[in-house]
Amino acid sequence: MRHLINITDLSVAEIEELIATAQDIIQNGKKYAEVCKGKKIATLFFEPSTRTRLSFEAAMLELGGSVIGFSSAESSSAAKGETVTDTVRTVACYADIIAMRHPKEGAPLAASKVSPVPIINAGDGGHNHPTQTLADLFTIYREKGRLENFTIGFCGDLKFGRTVHSLITALSRYRNINFIFISPEELRIPDYIKEDTLWKNKLPYIEVERLEDVMPQLDILYMTRVQKERFFNEADYVRLKDSYILEPSKLANAKKDLSVLHPLPRVNEISHLVDSDPRACYFKQVLNGKYMRMALILKLLNLEVDS
Ligand code: CP
Repeated sequence: MRHLINITDLSVAEIEELIATAQDIIQNGKKYAEVCKGKKIATLFFEPSTRTRLSFEAAMLELGGSVIGFSSAESSSAAKGETVTDTVRTVACYADIIAMRHPKEGAPLAASKVSPVPIINAGDGGHNHPTQTLADLFTIYREKGRLENFTIGFCGDLKFGRTVHSLITALSRYRNINFIFISPEELRIPDYIKEDTLWKNKLPYIEVERLEDVMPQLDILYMTRVQKERFFNEADYVRLKDSYILEPSKLANAKKDLSVLHPLPRVNEISHLVDSDPRACYFKQVLNGKYMRMALILKLLNLEVDS
């Protein structure tokens, strides 16, 4: 039995296999329509979500399975003081696989220690978000045709942005990736990411404050929201929240084949005027996430379809 807690729980070869399955789902969707018949996914979301929860649910429904779950801690017995591990042992009596989002870092890992069914980390605090990384990797692959040899700029809240942490970790296993980190001083990537991933693997990176200065170098721009819910101090959030606003004029000196990604939700950091630019890929990312979650559910449930 496998869980997905950190993106490194999947080997590079397994990620390639998931991408191949996702592509086959896109091309031959009907083949997959009943593969999860009789199976249930439980979506246990102790923190708000639109894309991740609904894409897991849509993924399971499109595979012919069913969905149970809750969308807030307040609507579950967590509100009465039940522990995460007791909740998971209970829900595992009803479901074949569990996708869990929790504000506490490490909660899905704790759940995986007691669960008799696969646990998928759907985002834990400011730590990791491995299934968003699967969506991001599939989007890069579809846009660029490769997962190596490019320069990627991560822009915004690199301290609390869990999608950033998981994607850096994932990309550290591919060849010739140049990382450019664009953030205010206070929102730089955490030291543990530098130590465990960048320094350990001798990966090239630079840290800058101005997006304009590095825009012409970028093949991929990964914009992020300043994570209001992780700040202890409202004044700091207000001061930093509009540090970067991507407007059409800022793309004037960008490459013609730049891909602009964002895990969403966005607040102010990408103008809606950018949405019609062919380089904007963030809604493609949403759809790609559903296909990769379908592929992941099949893998963790050990289900195959006839070719
Ligand atoms: N990208 C992402 O995790 O979005 P949600 O918070 O809406 O799930």
